Amino acid sequence: MNATDRVLVYGATGHTGRFVVDELLRRGLTPVLAGRSAERLAAVPPRHAGLDRRVVGVDDPGLLRQAVAGAGAVVNCAGPFLDTAVPLAQAAVDSGAHYLDVTAEQPVVQALYRDLDGPARAAGVVVVPAMAFYGGLADLLVTAALDGGSRADEVEVAIGLDRWWPTAGTRATGARNTATRLVIRGGVLTALESPAPSCTWSYPSPLGDQSVVELPFSEVITIDHHLDVGELRSYLNTAPLDDLHDSATPGPAATDEHGRSAQQFVVDVVVRRGSDTRRTSATGRDIYAVTAPIVVEGAVRLLDGRHRGSGVAAPGEAFDAAAVLATLEREAGAIAIRSDRQGWATRR
Ligand SMILES: NC(=O)c1ccc[n+]([C@@H]2O[C@H](COP(=O)([O-])OP(=O)(O)OC[C@H]3O[C@@H](n4cnc5c(N)ncnc54)[C@H](OP(=O)(O)O)[C@@H]3O)[C@@H](O)[C@H]2O)c1
Repeated sequence: MNATDRVLVYGATGHTGRFVVDELLRRGLTPVLAGRSAERLAAVPPRHAGLDRRVVGVDDPGLLRQAVAGAGAVVNCAGPFLDTAVPLAQAAVDSGAHYLDVTAEQPVVQALYRDLDGPARAAGVVVVPAMAFYGGLADLLVTAALDGGSRADEVEVAIGLDRWWPTAGTRATGARNTATRLVIRGGVLTALESPAPSCTWSYPSPLGDQSVVELPFSEVITIDHHLDVGELRSYLNTAPLDDLHDSATPGPAATDEHGRSAQQFVVDVVVRRGSDTRRTSATGRDIYAVTAPIVVEGAVRLLDGRHRGSGVAAPGEAFDAAAVLATLEREAGAIAIRSDRQGWATRR
């Protein structure tokens, strides 16, 4: 167990970083604000002004280690994560701190497994990539649906958004990540077909029937690492992709006292093993805001010892997935979950 309640938030100046700092404070932890720009760190909201700050870039390992020193965990909210994840995770591991990030980028998760698993095990700390809306939430829902099992013949993940107001970080990350996306076919990681398969998905309310396209995120890499899945297909509806591809679409605007936008989401997961099909849907509001309770729940569990082992671990591997989802639903009020064993018709 880690002795400290200090959590270094890298990218604390960003849209997601601010939600994470608020959530850490709500959970009784002590955020340390970190980022590359002294000017932007000086301009944090007045409610964060009394918190410790560390100005440091990701290109100097010694300074990064100094910045992390004294923290029990690091939460990396600075994307593109292709530029920040490995150096920051390395500094965390070298300093004996746990590390979590919110990456949706598949190559980042692969790099963390490749470069940090051995060092993290040796240091007795855990590196959890993709503890976020994209990636982690699907990983947790699939893990929980398997109910202690690790094998599925087929998994489908359908993310549905009514709108997408992207942040600058989302746009920069999309432009930076040009890697071929991976899916699971025949039990192995495989390049997504081109053009990507499309179909209609019947989401639960409020989205209903939507055109979707196969668009896998970091959940493919995390799921492949800790579960034995024959076929994994991840879809996103096309309406929010039109928002994303329109350069005139504005960023998210706060519409409630928590700073959340009005955006609504559904993450629909269908898991089939033999003749047994289970469907679980998580609904909620604002994909950036909901990332904060997800990653902070991870930080809380890493700090209080409610995690398994050490090394690089997927969200559903490091934590009790059902317990994390229950906390997000009942205590944080971040998502609503509906489960069904019949496997309703979803795709055509
Ligand atoms: N998986 C998910 O569901 C999920 C959810 C939310 C966010 N994200 C990802 O998280 C990232 C941040 O999103 P956001 O909405 O918070 O964007 P944002 O508001 O634009 O903030 C981006 C943050 O990253 C920092 N940053 C970017 N590149 C950096 C670099 N090379 N070195 C140091 N700091 C760097 C920025 O620092 P400056 O202030 O100095 O520019 C800023 O703090 C994006 O990659 C986004 O896709 C993923």
